[in-house]
Amino acid sequence: MFKFLRNLLIPMTAKPHVPIPANGVDYRGKVVLAPMVRSSELPCRLLALKYGADLVWGPETIDRAMIGTTRRINPRNSMVEFTRLPSNGGRSDSPLKESVIYRIDPAREKGKLIYQIGTASPELAVRAAQLVAADVAGIDVNAGCPKSFSTTGGMGAALLQTPEKLASILEALVREIGNVYQIGISVKIRLLSDPERTRALVTRLCATGITGLTIHCRTTPMRPRERALREQLPMIASVCRDAGVACVVNGDVVSRDHGLELMKEYNVDGAMIATAAEANSSCFRSAAEGGLLPWREVVHTFMQGALECENRWGNTKFTLNILIPGKDKVYKHAKQSKGYEECCTALGLVDLLPAARQVDQILGCTWSLSSSVDKKSPAVQKAMETNDSAKAAGTSSTAATSPTKSKPNLSNGTGPIRRHSSPKPFAETPVDLSIAGTTETTAPAANAVSA
Ligand SMILES: Cc1cc2nc3c(=O)[nH]c(=O)nc-3n(C[C@H](O)[C@H](O)[C@H](O)COP(=O)(O)O)c2cc1C
Repeated sequence: MFKFLRNLLIPMTAKPHVPIPANGVDYRGKVVLAPMVRSSELPCRLLALKYGADLVWGPETIDRAMIGTTRRINPRNSMVEFTRLPSNGGRSDSPLKESVIYRIDPAREKGKLIYQIGTASPELAVRAAQLVAADVAGIDVNAGCPKSFSTTGGMGAALLQTPEKLASILEALVREIGNVYQIGISVKIRLLSDPERTRALVTRLCATGITGLTIHCRTTPMRPRERALREQLPMIASVCRDAGVACVVNGDVVSRDHGLELMKEYNVDGAMIATAAEANSSCFRSAAEGGLLPWREVVHTFMQGALECENRWGNTKFTLNILIPGKDKVYKHAKQSKGYEECCTALGLVDLLPAARQVDQILGCTWSLSSSVDKKSPAVQKAMETNDSAKAAGTSSTAATSPTKSKPNLSNGTGPIRRHSSPKPFAETPVDLSIAGTTETTAPAANAVSA
């Protein structure tokens, strides 16, 4: 009798399970931040992690953009930065300036970051992935972007029409990146309108050795605002389950609790949130943890993270424009700001002003608090009358000398070096703006933290 029951149970429970590599991560049971160009750069990822995202996907980065970058450690904050000189030679009237193509926080993102690649070639995909493989927990291939800049090169959603090419990219990544660096390889796809073609595609992709598959529950022609379709989801989940591949649902997932409900209802393994997290990342908090936070609190936390990373001002402003409700009167001020100090002043984030001034100096943002007294928000004015740190931040004649020129000061020491996951507040000291001499190409993330 026992033997009979055991024989009956084993086939039901012992589904195959693609092994999770030693430095990889299992997507099962996870509610994660979606890859979003501009909206899943490092500060947004840190925000999502702070509010409880289990894993974070970085923005799609095209293979050719990554190939040729140099890996370095920023000595002021210990972030890993992949940089390159402009391929068009830059402007002839100014010195060539390296731009940061990809940025990683090796402490807070350790074991949680999935790097998404845009590619149409197994060779280029492997070359690009080799550069970041030691710093991330997984490599994901974007096979869902419907934009013409992606599809005209055969990338993104175009790969859904060339399943053998997509499979060959995944197989090359599994063989030369996944196995070598011991991280997982995954893919993000969209629905095909014919369920049988979706089934054939998912079945083929699951046979490549990938550990995870995200299904964006919209077809390629569907607009982002159209409601996500769930009809094919149980079938896709079942194909993935039979192959031992984790299946993550994406499309109109609005919160952690909602993601967990969908996982139960459709028997999928994980849930991915994009636009709801773009608008307010505290959607990763469960209702039991308090749920959504007011936008002002989210903005404060986001700005703190953006300053810690020395995030490009244009990208920070882009995110603020989404985080701050359009009707709010500070929206206009934030939208017009030319740098961190001006923006923190407009938003009344007085505690961040010293760091804001310092990062403006590093990035060469041009705005002077002292020349903009009239622009102070009532919150800043009040704080400056009553609060010592705000006074120090903005009213003393020396502290108020903010950079009005974008010329960096290269003559001083190396500035604060972060050794713990939470950076210490910025000191009001001159900073070394150079990052030369710290270039590395292959050291794993763990080394980066102590560099
Ligand atoms: C601003 C923005 C940028 C995006 N960039 C990417 C990307 O780089 N890679 C990708 O696979 N999908 C990208 N997407 C699609 C999302 O990852 C996600 O599949 C889509 O928004 C559906 O999820 P949602 O209904 O939760 O918004 C992007 C979406 C948005 C809104």
